[in-house]
Amino acid sequence: MYLPSFNLSNKTAVITGAGRGIGRALAIGFAEAGANLVLLSRTEKELNEVETIISDMGRTALPIVTDVTKPSDISEAIEKIKQENIKIDILVNNAGMNIRTEALNVTEDEWDKIMNTNIKSAFFMSREIGALMKEHGEGGRIINISSVAGKIALRTGVAYGATKAAMIQMTKILAFEWGKYHINVNSIGPWYFETPLTKELLSNEEYVKDILAVTPLKRIGQLPELVGPAVFLASDASSYISGQTLFVDGGMTINGF
Ligand SMILES: NC(=O)c1ccc[n+]([C@@H]2O[C@H](COP(=O)([O-])OP(=O)(O)OC[C@H]3O[C@@H](n4cnc5c(N)ncnc54)[C@H](OP(=O)(O)O)[C@@H]3O)[C@@H](O)[C@H]2O)c1
Repeated sequence: MYLPSFNLSNKTAVITGAGRGIGRALAIGFAEAGANLVLLSRTEKELNEVETIISDMGRTALPIVTDVTKPSDISEAIEKIKQENIKIDILVNNAGMNIRTEALNVTEDEWDKIMNTNIKSAFFMSREIGALMKEHGEGGRIINISSVAGKIALRTGVAYGATKAAMIQMTKILAFEWGKYHINVNSIGPWYFETPLTKELLSNEEYVKDILAVTPLKRIGQLPELVGPAVFLASDASSYISGQTLFVDGGMTINGF
């Protein structure tokens, strides 16, 4: 028996930003792989829609309306998880946003908003869930959704790129500190995928032409193409991998553009 299991049965995953886009796709994909879910975001209606899809699949999903930029909201979500006696095996830090502004025009408010949403929230979610994983003693998986923008200078703006690079480094340091608790921490760096975040940009033909010019596979990614890598990093199939960033990028980063 050499083939390790990709199955997530009897595992529970917390996913931030699970109401739409990548987070929604990962939540449904994890449920397909057998997991139960805890779904976080600020929009109750979207969380309830995902919950319905997952319960129709025979899995459970607990939606918790949470603004992950607020430590008090994170604490309340953790309390709810404890009250429900849920053992968390997997955390996906996916919630994120961007305001595309050239560096000379970035305001303090924009900077703080992007930092708080993309990196501060991911650290404090990891700290809280990491503590639960240490306490239950069965280890766990943390997956941080970074970006190609964390490796390469892009037009996505300085604050966004800085948060995504920070996420890659945070992944390594948490992997370094928490390996002894059997917690594997990895990151995924997507290139362009069509979601509500990128829909407008990807409706611009010139913009897409520029993207495809530096993408060896010559196409934009499809959401299911992120689900496989995420299930891999959440499952026993990746048990000896920690601190890594897996770029899901159609080959974009191979030339170090
Ligand atoms: N799409 C791409 O091509 C691409 C490429 C590289 C990296 N990424 C990264 O992938 C992640 C998901 O992106 P996406 O394209 O799926 O974006 P999206 O469609 O805009 O979805 C973002 C999700 O994050 C949630 N969120 C944002 N701020 C939040 C907050 N303060 N508290 C709780 N939840 C919050 C949103 O829910 P609410 O607004 O309802 O709270 C939503 O569910 C982001 O980290 C993004 O940087 C995306």
